[in-house]
Amino acid sequence: MSVYKEIKRVTTHVLSEMKLKGEKIAMLTSYDFSMAKLVDQAGIDIILVGDSASNVMAGNETTLPITLDQMIYHGKSVVRAVNRALVVVDMPFGSYQGNSLEALNSAIKIMKVTHADAVKVEGGKEIIESVERILSAGIPVMGHLGLMPQSINKYGTYTVRAKEEVEAQKLIEDAKLLEEVGCFAIVLEKIPAALGTKVAQQLKIPVIGIGAGGGVDGQVLVIHDMLGISQSFSPRFLRRYLNLAEEIQGAVNHYIQDVKSKDFPNEREQY
Ligand code: KIV
Repeated sequence: MSVYKEIKRVTTHVLSEMKLKGEKIAMLTSYDFSMAKLVDQAGIDIILVGDSASNVMAGNETTLPITLDQMIYHGKSVVRAVNRALVVVDMPFGSYQGNSLEALNSAIKIMKVTHADAVKVEGGKEIIESVERILSAGIPVMGHLGLMPQSINKYGTYTVRAKEEVEAQKLIEDAKLLEEVGCFAIVLEKIPAALGTKVAQQLKIPVIGIGAGGGVDGQVLVIHDMLGISQSFSPRFLRRYLNLAEEIQGAVNHYIQDVKSKDFPNEREQY
């Protein structure tokens, strides 16, 4: 049983204590009020308003098309629902890579309008000026290394990253750099488990994995994937806890039959 379950509000300080005490951090995505309320009430530590909203909410093939205003809309909806979890909003593609002033303005807009607790950005050395400038305004930043979906056009594939020594070494250096400038945590996506463990051991800040093995400080999944709403996405790292697609389709079929057969509404279901 978590010793942190009873705390009123998860902060970045609570997360670093959890790492110190060896308690794993549980993180999930949410994009709307109703889902975020359920996820928060269940006791999740971090809710990520991920730019995966571009895929699972808007039906885009990649995360690239989602805009800053769309992320802000999702962020506001989630924050309204949450009482306990730390809420992190993904900075969308194009809102922080270009120059650090633009990054700062995007991050300030996210924080001012959504009232979220932190932002997340993808990348290491290449975006470090932007990260430092956002941090200088007092905005907590979560890093994201390994598979970085916003760079899909550079790599061309969603396969496991940092299998080769050179890329693994760069990832370790980037992770250390993000810690050094002041990020409060980083996400590592789809990398060898041994590398995930190594990074988590070398960093003081929490390292949250998605397909990075069990040796990191916490785990994150996309809520639509773990609930079995999205059906076509089945990477090895995904554990499905429900088959909600089947449940929803079963319920909708049942409703259709009830309407067509005039079973619904019955006498008690009308005025
Ligand atoms: O956008 C997202 O959902 C993410 C997670 C996969 C970590 O960045």
